[in-house]
Amino acid sequence: MLRLGVIVLLLSGFFDAAMAESAIERGDYLVNTIMACGNCHSPRDANGRTIADKALSGGLTFNTPAFVATASNITPDPETGIGSWTDAEIKRALIEGVRPDHRHLSGVPLAAIMPANFYKALLPEDLDAIVAYLRSVKPVRNEIADPVYKTPIHRDPYPDAESGFNKSMFKEPVGRGAYLVTIGHCMECHSAWSRGVSDFRTGLGRGGRSFAEAGLGGVTAANITSDRTAGIGTWSDQEIVRAITQGIARDGRILKPPMGYPFYAGLKQSDLADILAYLRTVPPLQ
Ligand code: HEC
Ligand code: HEC
Repeated sequence: MLRLGVIVLLLSGFFDAAMAESAIERGDYLVNTIMACGNCHSPRDANGRTIADKALSGGLTFNTPAFVATASNITPDPETGIGSWTDAEIKRALIEGVRPDHRHLSGVPLAAIMPANFYKALLPEDLDAIVAYLRSVKPVRNEIADPVYKTPIHRDPYPDAESGFNKSMFKEPVGRGAYLVTIGHCMECHSAWSRGVSDFRTGLGRGGRSFAEAGLGGVTAANITSDRTAGIGTWSDQEIVRAITQGIARDGRILKPPMGYPFYAGLKQSDLADILAYLRTVPPLQ
């Protein structure tokens, strides 16, 4: 009996290990789909497509009234990337937006374009997975210009990231979707915005933020609340998924960057279903 029990235990352990995603695979999935780090951090070719073999080696320059900052080289290159940082230092940059003390830009908060106020929500195992993946990518030597900060760094607290997530909230699709929408910082672009401050409390999902930085032209983020006229309340599930993953609006119009449609194209169907479940719960706003 005992021996049979041990065999069953060993076998179930084996199957768990075979089924489970490794930390690097999980990190790869998060970085390259919902979190779209490369949308900011990867260099682009003349057609605006991210260059795969230079992935994550430094990307867009954001020229705003508050700062001029280029998305850093986050490959493991020890001199121009983050190869010499400890795991704790990388995690701190991600969830607090603060650089390590040993760099020449000692302890300085990163420009608020780096969505640390959203990444604060990351579960510890997802944070570990992201670090494991970043350590596994090809080191690319690419020196990035130092940022210039003109006003003190201000990060708008995101309510769902402040309250945090735990596994018990993942029993329902809406809870899982809220987590994905948080770490995907969807509402950073899609909430009401004025003079550099996001209004997540009374303008969640209402849209209206315009993007002129990084040569993105005059595109304005849409209202993605459940409002039936101003928002996406009457869009079908398929229409919303097509907008997110293919960048095609309900009326067939091609949607413009900076939303990272090609990244979201890699999302699992189950994750897209959870995102939809959450979006359906966003209170209507005109
Ligand atoms: C919306 C654009 C944007 C996204 C998305 C983004 N970042 Fe950043 N990130 C930046 C910018 C810009 C900086 C540099 C800010 C500065 O210099 O003040 C930065 C800085 C960093 C740094 C500090 C590196 C250094 O050398 O100082 C790390 C680490 C980092 N990002 C990792 C990530 C990871 C991992 C992801 C995805 C999970 C991510 N970022 C997503 C824009 C972004
Ligand atoms: C970096 C900013 C940014 C992020 C992050 C972002 N979006 Fe968008 N999104 C936009 C902009 C801008 C548009 C409008 C593009 C246009 O009109 O050409 C848009 C359009 C959309 C649309 C189409 C709505 C319509 O009426 O046309 C949907 C749906 C949408 N986003 C959902 C999401 C979801 C869900 C996420 C997170 C997974 C997300 N967005 C992340 C900027 C962003």
